[in-house]
Amino acid sequence: MSSARQRFMGERQVPDQHEGPAHATATNADTPAHDLAELLGTVMRGRQTILPRRLLAPGPGGDELAAIFEAAATAPDHGRLLPWRFIVVPPAQRDLLAEAFANALQQRDPAATPEQVVQAKEKAYRSPFLLLVVVDERTGDAGIDLAERTIATGCAVQNMLLMATALGYGSALTSGKALKSSHLRQLFQLADGEHPLCFVSIGTVQSARRARVRPVPRDFVSSVAGSARPDQQPSAPAPEQLSAPASMSGPGSGPGTDPTPPSTSHTSPG
Ligand SMILES: Cc1cc2nc3c(=O)[nH]c(=O)nc-3n(C[C@H](O)[C@H](O)[C@H](O)COP(=O)(O)O)c2cc1C
Repeated sequence: MSSARQRFMGERQVPDQHEGPAHATATNADTPAHDLAELLGTVMRGRQTILPRRLLAPGPGGDELAAIFEAAATAPDHGRLLPWRFIVVPPAQRDLLAEAFANALQQRDPAATPEQVVQAKEKAYRSPFLLLVVVDERTGDAGIDLAERTIATGCAVQNMLLMATALGYGSALTSGKALKSSHLRQLFQLADGEHPLCFVSIGTVQSARRARVRPVPRDFVSSVAGSARPDQQPSAPAPEQLSAPASMSGPGSGPGTDPTPPSTSHTSPG
């Protein structure tokens, strides 16, 4: 096993079967938790969209690609349905994708100009590594609906983006109207019940971008309001932990601006 994969696998125990040993742990026991958290935060903050036209060769290959796909496989997957499918578009097949993009454009806009058709085609050649993300709503337990399957797929995609970032690559997700076209479905041989979600592009960053200002937790975290007895209250984050400098979010900038402690705990019924 070479370095990229080895670093990802770490000292994780890799069972032969689906079921791991009961004592398998999520993290490397030799690394202090705060170091892991700092490392993870660094990777997460380091990920940002680099548009495909700014992603140059080389892209990930060999063991790096294996590490990226193995990262996807660590995503939470309700019912173990494996609802995601990734279809790579190798350089030799980009002409087919370009044709599908052009046909999709002409299908939805018969008046598209030759320049617009050229632009649509050109998108197929950006980024050295490109794949289509597909979610499948058909397999397994029908009680696990498309929304849950899409969340699992999104988690898998984010894991891939983070691994690509950790390996030093830039990445982007792109969607667009062509995803809905029959030409694209045909090229990727999608069955009924398979939904294309977006493309993932990965490559070498041409020029660095300024880090984007992120939303702060108080913009998206709130608590259940209620009047449970104090001894039933779970420990809640202190308000100051959810606050942020006014310059970053502004006053009253969302539903979570009054982070009162939760009065009921909420766990998933599973
Ligand atoms: C499913 C999905 C599809 C996306 N499609 C596009 C797209 O077509 N074009 C684009 O510029 N960005 C696209 N994005 C990227 C978002 O615009 C981007 O993540 C957002 O602006 C935040 O920037 P960041 O990734 O640097 O944090 C997509 C993101 C997701 C999750």
